[in-house]
Amino acid sequence: MKQIKLFDPSINQKEEKAILQTIRSGFWASGAGKGKVLKFEKLFKKYTNSKECIAVNSGTAALHLALSLFDIKNKEVILPSLSFVSTAHSIIYNGGIPVFVDVEPETLCIDPEKIKEAITKKTRIILPVHYAGMPCNLDELNKIKKKFNLKIVEDAAHASGSTYKNKKIGSHSDASCFSFHPAKNLAMPVGGLISINGRNTKKLKKILDSKRWVGISNRVGSKYDVTNIGWNYYMNEFSAAIGIEQLKKLESGNLKRKYIAKRYSKELKIVKKIPLSKDCSYHLFWISVNNQKEFMKKMLENNIETGIHYLPIHKMKYYSSRIKLKITEDITKKLVSLPIHPNLKSTEIDKIIKLTNKFSKD
Ligand SMILES: Cc1ncc(COP(=O)(O)O)c(C=O)c1O
Repeated sequence: MKQIKLFDPSINQKEEKAILQTIRSGFWASGAGKGKVLKFEKLFKKYTNSKECIAVNSGTAALHLALSLFDIKNKEVILPSLSFVSTAHSIIYNGGIPVFVDVEPETLCIDPEKIKEAITKKTRIILPVHYAGMPCNLDELNKIKKKFNLKIVEDAAHASGSTYKNKKIGSHSDASCFSFHPAKNLAMPVGGLISINGRNTKKLKKILDSKRWVGISNRVGSKYDVTNIGWNYYMNEFSAAIGIEQLKKLESGNLKRKYIAKRYSKELKIVKKIPLSKDCSYHLFWISVNNQKEFMKKMLENNIETGIHYLPIHKMKYYSSRIKLKITEDITKKLVSLPIHPNLKSTEIDKIIKLTNKFSKD
């Protein structure tokens, strides 16, 4: 029996054709951000209605470079612990200090009240994560930003196509960082992107263009200079070619995810689960069960893959922070992500609902 995958990129002949065309073109990559990479950036900029977009080769790279725009050496960045480890690593890469705070119990997004409590003279940036694709309370975060003269860099890895106040995520903050990892709503082999919206966006784009290509700047013909350190973070043409096709179906894919979310919401007997929201991209559909390990095992025995997103970062050995984040620590013992992607057939959705109701204890 075919396994129902937790993540499954939605691809067809369009992506296959795009890859073949790219192979045959002989133009596979360029640090200069030309060709399909440039086209993808323009399309994503239009889609999100953001001021500038800079394509890179992962969400991790996007976070690293976005934070590098602001001097955070020995300064504090406030973030949730309920995220992928890259969110915190990107602060370390820049010499900053991660300050983990708790999440709201309903959305599992960063709790603005906890941010206020964590602010010190050293705080420079708020780094919210739109967990599962559910937008954080950006109005509240902006109030805090203004009051304490901070910056907001969004981890929008889950939020391709999510909206907040009828505007696409990617158009609100100083910087937003997307991931196009194959598991994401917009899938590439590898890829990421930074959208920027504050002041001086043209200047910042130039800086980021250089940083993503080992610091190369002032390029004229084959001559160039390096005025600042950079990394090898530029996107390749294959990723961009797939991304262009994926972007065309992001809206319809997210609509299918919303449809599945509605069914899960209505038909699953579990009380605690991700809320229904028209703004959410439903990258994940999380439920909270009292028998996490046993539930996941039983689902797998029945060919349904599930996952845990995530283990709290502040509990990792490298970070081993003594702080207590009650909601994060409690929920991560119970969290399970169910499959939610456009490839699911209605019989598969029926099966997931039936077996989740059968095996889950809450
Ligand atoms: C919340 C979050 N942040 C950052 C990342 C890093 O993205 P990537 O895997 O593209 O480097 C991911 C993806 O795995 C993620 O889920």
